[in-house]
Amino acid sequence: MRAIGIGLIGWGTVGCGVIRVLHENAQEIEARLGVPLKLTRVVDMDLERQRPVSVPADMLTKRAEDVLEDPNIQIVVELIGGLGAAKTIICKALDNKKYVVTANKALLAHSGNELFEIARKNGRAIGFEASVAGGIPFIKSLREGLAANRIETLYGILNGTANYILTRMTDDGLSFQAALLEAQQEGFAEADPTLDVEGIDAAHKLAIASAIAFGSKIKFDQVYTEGISNIDPLDIGFGKEFGYELKLLAIARNNDSRLEMRVHPTLIPAGHVLASVKGAYNAVHIHGNAVGNIMLYGLGAGMMPTGSAVVADLIDLARDIMSNVPERVAPLSFLPDRLRPVAIRPMSDISTCYYFRFAAVDRPGVLSKIAGILGKNDISIAAVIQKGREVEGAVPIVMLTHEAVERNVIRALDEMKRLDVVLAPTQLIRIEDR
Ligand code: HSE
Repeated sequence: MRAIGIGLIGWGTVGCGVIRVLHENAQEIEARLGVPLKLTRVVDMDLERQRPVSVPADMLTKRAEDVLEDPNIQIVVELIGGLGAAKTIICKALDNKKYVVTANKALLAHSGNELFEIARKNGRAIGFEASVAGGIPFIKSLREGLAANRIETLYGILNGTANYILTRMTDDGLSFQAALLEAQQEGFAEADPTLDVEGIDAAHKLAIASAIAFGSKIKFDQVYTEGISNIDPLDIGFGKEFGYELKLLAIARNNDSRLEMRVHPTLIPAGHVLASVKGAYNAVHIHGNAVGNIMLYGLGAGMMPTGSAVVADLIDLARDIMSNVPERVAPLSFLPDRLRPVAIRPMSDISTCYYFRFAAVDRPGVLSKIAGILGKNDISIAAVIQKGREVEGAVPIVMLTHEAVERNVIRALDEMKRLDVVLAPTQLIRIEDR
């Protein structure tokens, strides 16, 4: 074999990163692989737009078929994103006996189980390192480096855009909108940034990572998801006063043989290692029963880090092609027929500490009414502050709780709505203090 032919579909931010890595690191890649990775075709609907990385005109086409039907292309890279055309392209590529690399976490979260099966039937594999945590070799670490372990917990920051926004709001006092605009300009955000700010992108990634870690099928619809669009700078400030930093955390825990999967804004101690993860960086903490605790840290978004992950997959698959192995490692690490039916812990059953901000009238007896409802619902208060600031006619009363059961918290906040001294919905933020 003199070269491995690559066809790239989607000449966007990540596509540009892939082209640049293939070009700039061609010598290193060939020295590792023995043959070059030869970019043969680049497909995009828009060939006119200015990009940071150019492509020779004779390599460009608007027709996906020019890649999918080219016998000189062994690996198809899908970087168009979304659930529609991307899925059709991947299925056609596999049916045409091509290997596939994708960064499409949304598609894998929704249809990964089906796509991996199609790949297996065709004797081909799908590389998806770039789908979770950008440039961090997270899938490889989980699938191979930690394959000797029973994974117990996995939690971290899996969305660079949300982390960038929270960092700019916390450290520099930027508004949510201004910080989001910056993240979009830097090329971290998804085409539809709702996916980033509503926690959906992190949930896609958590669903994929949990399946690999805990040996189940991908169950995206079972991930509890809450984003950061509802976060008031006031809560970031109160969090700081209590010694906490606000992060959008993705948490998966195998607890009493029931799997907990959730993404939500979370207060973590300011001294926690994840609190120092700033900007577009991602970090994941994993606990394996043999290895103990490990942390992976790096840029979770952006042109070159994500390009690095895509090209690492190209190198892996090229090695499989050259040694005539259809699929060296099962996509979810566990063999497809050994994936386990895992019971999911409903959100109402989880137990954690809470931050509440009540908007209450400043009058004698109000605090005792609120505390009474919490006590009745088995929720123990750990700390309280009240500031004499006016917020829409009410003062903010902030309470932190000891560990409580979510079901009780929801019931208590429901009762709270009926108090005439509580003037607005209560802000609830979960705290991870373990
Ligand atoms: N929009 C994603 C993020 C890109 O901000 O993390 C990487 O998946």
